[in-house]
Amino acid sequence: MIFSAALYLLSLLAVTRSQMQIQTFWPAAAPLAVHSPYLNVWQTAISTNDYPIFWNGSVLGWVGFIRVDGSTYRWLGNNYDMSGSVGAVGCNVTFTEVTPTRTIQNVQAGPMNVTLTFLSPIEPSDWVKQSIPFSYLAVEFASTDGKEHDVQLYSDISAEWVSANKETVEWSSNQTDTVVYHSIVLEQPQPFTEAYQQASDGTAYYAMSLGSGPSAGWQTCQNTVCYETFYASGALNSKNSNDTYRGITTDLPVFAFSVDFGNVSATQSPVVWAVGYARDPSIEYSLEEEVTTLRPYYSTQYSNIEDVIEAFVSDYDNALSRAETLDSQVQQAAANVSSGSEYYNMLSLATRQAFGALDLTAPGSDGSIRFFMKDIGFSNRVNPVESLYAALPVYLYCNSSMVKSLLLPLLEQQNASSYTSNYAAKDIGEISNPQFVCVRPLLTAPSGTSYPSVSGPTAASNEGVEQSGNMLIMVLAHAVNAGDSSLLGSYYALLKTWADYLVTNALHPSNQASVDTRDVASNSTNLSLKGIIGIQAMSNISSMLGKDDDAQHYSSVASQYIGSWKALAMSSDSSHILPTYGDSSSDWSLSYNIYAHTLLDLHLLDDTIFSSITSYYQELLSNYAYGLPIDSDHDTLGSAVWTSFTAAALTDASTRQQMLSHLWKFASSNTTTYPFPSRYAVSNGSYLHGTSGPGCFVCAVGTE
Ligand SMILES: *[C@@H]1O[C@H](CO)[C@@H](O)[C@H](O)[C@H]1NC(C)=O
Ligand SMILES: *[C@@H]1O[C@H](CO)[C@@H](O)[C@H](O)[C@H]1NC(C)=O
Ligand SMILES: *[C@@H]1O[C@H](CO)[C@@H](O)[C@H](O)[C@H]1NC(C)=O
Ligand SMILES: *[C@@H]1O[C@H](CO)[C@@H](O)[C@H](O)[C@H]1NC(C)=O
Ligand SMILES: *[C@@H]1O[C@H](CO)[C@@H](O)[C@H](O)[C@H]1NC(C)=O
Ligand SMILES: *[C@@H]1O[C@H](CO)[C@@H](O)[C@H](O)[C@H]1NC(C)=O
Ligand SMILES: *[C@@H]1O[C@H](CO)[C@@H](O)[C@H](O)[C@H]1NC(C)=O
Ligand SMILES: *[C@@H]1O[C@H](CO)[C@@H](O)[C@H](O)[C@H]1NC(C)=O
Ligand SMILES: *[C@@H]1O[C@H](CO)[C@@H](O)[C@H](O)[C@H]1NC(C)=O
Ligand SMILES: *[C@@H]1O[C@H](CO)[C@@H](O)[C@H](O)[C@H]1NC(C)=O
Ligand SMILES: *[C@@H]1O[C@H](CO)[C@@H](O)[C@H](O)[C@H]1NC(C)=O
Ligand SMILES: *[C@@H]1O[C@H](CO)[C@@H](O)[C@H](O)[C@H]1NC(C)=O
Repeated sequence: MIFSAALYLLSLLAVTRSQMQIQTFWPAAAPLAVHSPYLNVWQTAISTNDYPIFWNGSVLGWVGFIRVDGSTYRWLGNNYDMSGSVGAVGCNVTFTEVTPTRTIQNVQAGPMNVTLTFLSPIEPSDWVKQSIPFSYLAVEFASTDGKEHDVQLYSDISAEWVSANKETVEWSSNQTDTVVYHSIVLEQPQPFTEAYQQASDGTAYYAMSLGSGPSAGWQTCQNTVCYETFYASGALNSKNSNDTYRGITTDLPVFAFSVDFGNVSATQSPVVWAVGYARDPSIEYSLEEEVTTLRPYYSTQYSNIEDVIEAFVSDYDNALSRAETLDSQVQQAAANVSSGSEYYNMLSLATRQAFGALDLTAPGSDGSIRFFMKDIGFSNRVNPVESLYAALPVYLYCNSSMVKSLLLPLLEQQNASSYTSNYAAKDIGEISNPQFVCVRPLLTAPSGTSYPSVSGPTAASNEGVEQSGNMLIMVLAHAVNAGDSSLLGSYYALLKTWADYLVTNALHPSNQASVDTRDVASNSTNLSLKGIIGIQAMSNISSMLGKDDDAQHYSSVASQYIGSWKALAMSSDSSHILPTYGDSSSDWSLSYNIYAHTLLDLHLLDDTIFSSITSYYQELLSNYAYGLPIDSDHDTLGSAVWTSFTAAALTDASTRQQMLSHLWKFASSNTTTYPFPSRYAVSNGSYLHGTSGPGCFVCAVGTE
């Protein structure tokens, strides 16, 4: 990332956050602990802080209380299952701010102003740290009357963190010199298997530091027992109960911590808890008939999870300062593109979601580091190529080297002799019958079919143009941005196969499925454009390797095709792009694939096309409240990702700002409870698909 003096200045300014905290951004859900496909926890009722959910909707027990002069207030979770008189009073949440790494809340608990910082680290330049599946909850407070009060804090998690099924779990509580932590695991873990999108083979952790500060307690007990103990005395007994296993919802066991401050007016330093969900090994990887398992990347540095927990817990101050730096960089990048905070609000969710979809694995026997993406929000596919393409700008911006490790598994799988298709696959593992997981979740799904198992490339001939184009664009974008042509050299023949497929199929794509609607159609202008850009990308790839004949060949095909494309795809008055060749002039499409031309800085299309579509979309925007639909034939289907791709290709900053502003209206509406979905209805901003998926908001420069 680019560090500049201006950014440091900005991070200093950020400390004196506006005194008058008026909340303008109200997303349907705020990220609390979002770091990987299986540590992906959201708050859907920001103003009440009811129980959080796993991204797919299952409730997760995560509770927080503060006891002030003997009265207990609840700042997270709920206690509606408690018998009446002992229920804690819910706090008023007065302010919530979402940044790329943090959700920060102020809550009022009687005379105490409590600040909660949910920090999910994003560590693009330190891959050991990036791979640690933990997130922080830091709590501070100060009295609003300036007086001292007798204060205790409490927090717990339930065993719902290890499964949405009511199975039996086992637990233990362990203490080292520096930390105390609870761990919870299924009695019968199912390797590489999921139920309701949660993994069935991981361990949930809740940890806290045993610093020199206020006295800490811990306990495992039935929720009502822990709550009543805390309400009555403000302390837990720090003894292991004799129970070490039972059903997740049988006398609901909770894994609790307490901290006693005595009489104070404010915290000197935050109380920090660390919550995590770890799986080791994390990916089952099949390549050329050989099945191996891959371990999380942090295993290259730590030999056991206890060391990981100690290191993570003790690193909070540094993690916070790295997070502040990253946040202010993204904020500055957003301000470069669009004034005000709206774009930054959306980038905050999108950056977190793009990183929250990933697992990073340690080098296998061949020494390669690999990133895996789960198609969160849509399916269980592994490294879904169109979602990688959608999130590509985030990774390029944060650390373009990541893209190599994301593309490598796709490339090596398709370079194997067993892959015989002459176009690129759409992923490297999909479940053949997805209903199996969602409709019959109590049955164990077979392993080896989808995330977190990599079974091999899925060829789909009706996505050949789409995915071949995506792969060539991404491989080139990585090489240029990272200054690293190693993938190009290692897979040149494979890339050429895909480029040749595009030479045959891109100008008149036939019977190709739309990634947006699943409709199968021919002659889609937007798809054809992606294919032609893919051919030009191959030319650039060839010239980076000094293969001038190939470079010349692909570039002349691309130029010839783009001439035909313009004649077929543009409306007769050249004002806009039609959805399909031969459509009537009143039809139009959101031609988001044109952004790849901007991203790769190509010179196939002249500037007039970009300025024409900018004016055309500018006029259309006045007909809609929540942004433009993907085309005139699908006049309610909105896509957050493709809207932002389109915005990034526009030539006029105010039109771009207007388009982003429309999208923000959707991002900031809380009439549903779905974490920032990528597909929605532009008519009323309602949810369609793609909850909490890897989004994308381009750090756009446009073609001005
Ligand atoms: C939804 O947003 C409105 C502001 O638009 C806010 O007043 C309300 O408290 C929010 N609801 C929840 C449940 O957060
Ligand atoms: C949860 O995942 C299933 C697929 O397993 C999907 O059908 C369902 O829509 C998801 N629910 C939400 C709220 O995302
Ligand atoms: C929440 O706000 C209401 C209205 O201002 C107030 O009466 C109540 O005491 C507050 N609750 C807490 C827990 O501070
Ligand atoms: C609560 O604390 C936050 C953070 O220090 C501060 O911004 C806010 O103004 C305080 N609110 C009240 C009501 O004192
Ligand atoms: C990107 O990641 C690589 C691999 O961990 C690291 O060597 C490099 O320093 C990182 N680059 C940036 C800009 O953070
Ligand atoms: C944690 O405690 C349990 C039960 O007291 C014990 O069996 C286990 O070995 C401990 N784990 C570690 C890592 O010390
Ligand atoms: C746990 O078991 C021991 C030995 O059987 C017994 O002395 C102790 O009271 C039990 N503790 C609890 C909390 O039940
Ligand atoms: C806190 O202050 C109150 C009143 O001044 C006093 O009664 C109480 O003992 C103090 N508690 C502690 C833990 O010092
Ligand atoms: C903002 O734009 C300026 C000028 O184009 C550029 O130098 C700077 O790097 C950008 N900042 C970020 C964080 O992208
Ligand atoms: C990809 O396959 C080709 C043809 O079989 C082979 O020459 C090349 O070495 C392979 N690349 C890698 C990185 O294995
Ligand atoms: C845009 O292109 C994609 C292929 O990248 C295609 O699936 C989709 O249908 C096109 N959308 C429109 C509105 O033409
Ligand atoms: C695709 O467009 C070409 C040129 O307009 C036309 O000849 C061909 O019939 C079209 N294909 C289909 C399936 O509509």
